[in-house]
Order: sequence, then C-alpha cells, then structure tokens
Amino acid sequence: MIYRCVSTYSLNFNGRILAIKEGDITMQDTDAIVNAANSSLMGGGGVDGAIHRAAGRALVEECRIIRKTQYPAGLPPGEAVITSGGRLKAKFVIHTVGPIWMGGKKDESEILKKAYRNSLIVAEKSGIGTISFPSISTGAYGFPIEKAAPVAVSTIAEFLLKEARSVEKVYILAFTPSDFAVYRRELKLYGESFNGSKTPK
Ligand code: APR
Repeated sequence: MIYRCVSTYSLNFNGRILAIKEGDITMQDTDAIVNAANSSLMGGGGVDGAIHRAAGRALVEECRIIRKTQYPAGLPPGEAVITSGGRLKAKFVIHTVGPIWMGGKKDESEILKKAYRNSLIVAEKSGIGTISFPSISTGAYGFPIEKAAPVAVSTIAEFLLKEARSVEKVYILAFTPSDFAVYRRELKLYGESFNGSKTPK
C-alpha cells in the first residue's frame, strides 16, 4: 500500500485556521465545499463537472429551483448560493461564479474577492464550521493563479480575523503540486506580514 503524503500548510488566525491542501475537492469531508460554477448553475467542465458528477442529480435539480425562484437570469459573478451535497461527503455545496479574466481592467480582482467572501457569508448563515474552496477562476476562466492566490488568501484570512463566527477552518484545495506551491507561498507571505502563530505542516 503506497500512502500518498498529502501536502498541507496552515496558519492559525486567533484560533481559526486557513490551510492550503493538495487534492480533489470532491473527496473532502468538510461541512461544505465550494463549486466554481458558471452563471447557468447547470454544471460544466473542470471542478464544476467533477462536483456535479460526484454529487449526483440532486445538485442540478436544486440548482434548477434556485434559478427559477431566485436567479432567473443566472447567478451573477461574485454571488453565491447553497445546495445540499447530494452523494458527496460534504453536507453542502456552495456555488459561486468567479470572474472571467479580461486582462485585469474589468474589476476581476474585486469580483473574485466577492466570490470568496459571499461564499463565506453564505456558509455563516448555514452555521457551517469547515469549508473547502477550489482555486476559483484560475482554470477555464483564465485568471492568472499568481494574481488570484493573494486575493483568495487575504479575503479568507480577513474574514476569519474580523467576521467569522461559525466558520472555524477553511481549506484551499490546490489540484496540482504547482498550484499548491503558489498558494503555500502566498499564505506564508501573508503570515509573515501578520503576527499570527504559524502552524506549518
Ligand atoms: N478538485 C479541486 N480542484 C479542481 C478539481 C477538483 N476535482 N478539478 C479542477 N480543479 C481546479 C482547476 O485545476 C483550477 O485550478 O479548479 C480550478 C478552477 O478551474 P475550473 O474548474 O476551470 O473553474 P474556473 O476557472 O472558475 O472556470 C469556471 O469552467 O468548468 C467550467 O462550468 C464551469 O463555466 C465554468 C468555468
């Protein structure tokens, strides 16, 4: 049996944890996982496709109701909604839509910040304690990961420090070793600029 060493690196922000982890978000058993969806909420490729495949048809049925009752024109970029987790280990899926990269002059960073923060706000409203994020917008939506990672890390860290009540642990799931290295470096840099206690693993 070959045990794969799962890389993680975490920081403790006054008792609440932000951790970078390498792996498949559909395998996580956090209370919630976040889906990098598109505005249709009807599924797609990438992590959206993986989550819908793993969760089963319940997800798209719940999303269809959300579209009909709350977002008939589609979920706008930066907004977030919640469904059950279907067959996933996670009890909930929070669907958010990240910005499509247009060169950096169309408020892409602001919209990406909104996607992370609104997902956390939705998690709080459901009393969620642990949540996993993918690297939103850095795949098909083309957001350069070196620019997206600082937005993700700072938005989550600031939420943990200033607003979190039920959310106690947030993971960013990097799908590849190189993505893990980028997020790990960003979290390390953020930690060095903040006098929190580091808990590198
Ligand atoms: N677990 C964790 N991360 C994953 C997984 C997975 N199973 N599959 C893909 N990823 C990573 C990608 O490697 C990338 O780093 O998720 C990140 C986001 O990539 P995309 O899934 O392409 O999402 P995004 O860039 O936000 O584009 C969204 O793509 O899949 C469609 O329907 C989706 O139209 C929407 C668009």
